[in-house]
Parts: sequence; C-alpha cells; structure tokens
Amino acid sequence: MSRPWRLLAFALAAALVLSACGRNMYDQPKAETYEASPFFADGASSRPLPEGTISRERGAIDPVYLTGMGDGGFVSELPIEVSEGLLRRGQERYDIFCSVCHNYNGDGNGMIVQKGFVQPASFHEQRLLDSPAGYYYNAITNGFGRMYSYASRIPVEDRWAIVAYVRALQLSQNATLDDVPAEILEELDAATGEVR
Ligand code: HEC
Repeated sequence: MSRPWRLLAFALAAALVLSACGRNMYDQPKAETYEASPFFADGASSRPLPEGTISRERGAIDPVYLTGMGDGGFVSELPIEVSEGLLRRGQERYDIFCSVCHNYNGDGNGMIVQKGFVQPASFHEQRLLDSPAGYYYNAITNGFGRMYSYASRIPVEDRWAIVAYVRALQLSQNATLDDVPAEILEELDAATGEVR
C-alpha cells in the first residue's frame, strides 16, 4: 500500500474503534429516568417510595404550617413557637421585604408609596388588627390584589417570623400602659422621673 492509502486506512480504523468506544459509554447498562425495566414485575425502573416515607419538608406533614389555613379558614394562632430570636428574624425580614411599601411602623406609607405606588391599608386599622395570623401569611404567600406573591423569595419559616413581627408591631402601636410589665414600668418611671 502506498503511504497515503495506509494513512487513510489507519484513520478509518481509528474512527471505527473510537466511535464504537463512544457508543459503549453512551449506552451504559443503567436505568434512565422513567425507563422501562424487565427486571421488576411492574415493568418500571422507577421504584415506589417505601411505605412510611415522610417528606423532610415540614409542610408535607403539617398543611397548616404550609398554607396558614385550618378547617375553619385562616388560623388565628401562629403554628410555630414564638421566641425573641424569631421576632428579631421577622423584624429583619420585614424591614428588608415589606417596609419599602408598608413602612417600618406598618402604617402603609413606605418609601415606594411616597414615590407613587398604591398605598396599602395601615396594619393598625381595626380590620387588620382583627385579621387572623393566617391572613397575613396568606398575603405573603399568594400576594394580595396589587401586591405580588413573596413565595419564591421568602421561605415558609421566615413568612411566619414576619407575621409574628407584624403582630408585635401592631401591639407596639396600640399598646397601653397596662401592657407594660410592672418592673419595666418602674424602670421607665425611674428614667423619666415620673411618679405614679
Ligand atoms: C411593592 C409594595 C409592597 C411590598 C414590598 C409589600 N406589600 Fe403588602 N401590600 C401592598 C399593597 C399596595 C397592598 C394592597 C393591595 C390592594 O389592595 O390591591 C398590600 C396588601 C397587603 C396585605 C393585605 C392588607 C389588607 O388591606 O387586607 C397584607 C397583609 C400585606 N400586604 C402584607 C405584606 C407583607 C407582610 C409584606 C412583606 C413580606 C408585604 N406586604 C410587602 C404593597 C406591598
């Protein structure tokens, strides 16, 4: 064989060997997603979940936590334990996500509203003071009228933390002296020099 022919034959052989090799790698003896399988009686390679499997996400086993709804509609109690840490987390998330419109104090006159966005109702008006916790959770999760949903940006736990903080905010703006614990009242009086 002349030299060019030998080269060509070599190149062809190499191509055959290499491509065959590629095919083997491509067709590996494994089940691909939803592929049929003669191995199992039901003919499917995907196996059902073992009995008793539960989701690692709490919501799957506690719909109230996930939706804010119980049998009688919106739940009035928070489905999580309220702690100082939770309130602080809620305050931080509220200040980041909500205050731009609802304002830091919840009166609905945040910076975006001052610049022309529709003004939401104040969280301190009676209708909203009377609204159950689940109502707030639902507004964050599904949006409310012209307010868009925050479901993709705020995880479930943080939504409840925000609701807890809104409750604290409402109390802070509508509290009376009777709501102040006695020892703190004494401290305040001492600081201001007031005699009661
Ligand atoms: C971009 C501005 C904006 C942001 C940010 C925003 N909201 Fe709103 N929100 C509104 C407006 C405007 C309304 C009233 C919508 C309407 O009536 O169409 C509203 C309505 C609501 C309502 C229902 C009030 C009612 O009158 O019953 C709740 C509760 C609420 N928002 C909570 C929140 C919380 C909590 C956050 C933060 C996670 C948040 N919003 C973030 C603009 C905003």
